Amino acid sequence: MHISVIGTGYVGLVTGVCFAKLGHTVTCCDIIKEKVDAINAGRPSIFEPQLEELLKGAINKGLFRATTDIDHTVRDSDVSFICVGTPSQPDGSINLQFIRSAAESIARSMKDGHTIIVKSTVVPGTTESLIPIFTSSKKKFHLGMNPEFLKEGSAVQDFMNPDSIVIGYSDDYSRKLLEELYRPFTCPKITVNLRTAEMIKYANNSFLATKISFINEIANICETAGIDVTEVAHAIGLDQRIGSKFLRAGAGFGGSCFPKDIKALVAWSKSKVYSPKLLQSVLDLNADQPLRMIDILKSVVGTINGKRVSVLGLAFKPDTDDVREAPSIKIVDQLLKIGAIVTVYDPKAMDNFRSIFGDKVKYASDIKSCLKGADATLLVTEWDEFSKLTIEHFKLMKSPVIIDGRRALDPDKLLKMGVTYLGIGWKNK
Ligand code: UDX
Repeated sequence: MHISVIGTGYVGLVTGVCFAKLGHTVTCCDIIKEKVDAINAGRPSIFEPQLEELLKGAINKGLFRATTDIDHTVRDSDVSFICVGTPSQPDGSINLQFIRSAAESIARSMKDGHTIIVKSTVVPGTTESLIPIFTSSKKKFHLGMNPEFLKEGSAVQDFMNPDSIVIGYSDDYSRKLLEELYRPFTCPKITVNLRTAEMIKYANNSFLATKISFINEIANICETAGIDVTEVAHAIGLDQRIGSKFLRAGAGFGGSCFPKDIKALVAWSKSKVYSPKLLQSVLDLNADQPLRMIDILKSVVGTINGKRVSVLGLAFKPDTDDVREAPSIKIVDQLLKIGAIVTVYDPKAMDNFRSIFGDKVKYASDIKSCLKGADATLLVTEWDEFSKLTIEHFKLMKSPVIIDGRRALDPDKLLKMGVTYLGIGWKNK
């Protein structure tokens, strides 16, 4: 099949490269020429395991290329996937401007009988709302909605091994086309109408975010009673009705999806005259959760003004350079407000963090230089290399104090070394 993909962000690039790996001919479109040139040179615009290797392989086989020429690309393809961003408006509601302009570009260039599939996360009813744009082209078209469930850091793996595939369709042709495209996958395929497909994606993300805020609330309660939340999470996770995944307590969820999508669902639902109570609480709890680390810090070092605080981990999670909505931003911002001298280190996300904080913080080139002379260290992202901290690292600090915001370290080992260990959901009292 000849596939055009509009947008070369996480979803677009991973989708395009993976469809090429499955043997289709894919062209990805973006309006930013530098991005397109880099992709054609085999350099993905994002850091994602396996992506570069697959991209280079697909380019070499002649199955993949990127372009700024959306008109020719759409005209020469059988199906277009819309994979553009759906950012938040200031009030949290979804901004659909890129979806609409992608639809207008496709409508302008498509051949009769073209299929358009929306892959971006959009509030229910959005895909249907594009119908007048395509109808105005006076050409026949087919419309589908096929949400993605990719996690940053394992996006290729997630695309190739999904738990399920959601096929939202408006007519038999779009359903059959999506079934054909996903034929190599053996997982369950859920065939539903367009707005149900859109809602499934929001329900999925909302449930996962709720699970995280739930365990974070339990963690905050555990702290007051000398209970280790990881023991509680492990035990309840064995109940198959609950399940063990997404029960890691910590400094809160960030990233390009959970915060934006839950806010969009809440705002959209309010516009439909239902004000979600549970999801609003999920967001409220998550907004405060990063600052719990500062409360714990105060409880051990007292006043923070003038103290040297090192921050390990800036990305919203490990194995990515993405700092969008990362808890590190709130934590560092607050530390600076209350007069801390902050040094940060992250294996991949330093440049992205620097573009937000500039020279307000010091950037260390490795863990040791980050810890040197610090009154306390905050572990905010659980990169693998932080789990290997030794006494040699802590000896560099002014006082060996670590606050584990991801429960990634072994408290017993650290306490035996003479380190003052505190953490979210740990027996801090
Ligand atoms: C998420 C969804 O998982 C994915 O299906 C969707 O398509 C996009 O949004 P992503 O944002 O890449 O993916 O990362 P994910 O691994 O889900 O983590 C999101 C945030 O939740 C991170 O900040 C992570 O640290 C946090 N998290 C996750 C927890 O705090 N505890 C957990 O147990 C799991």
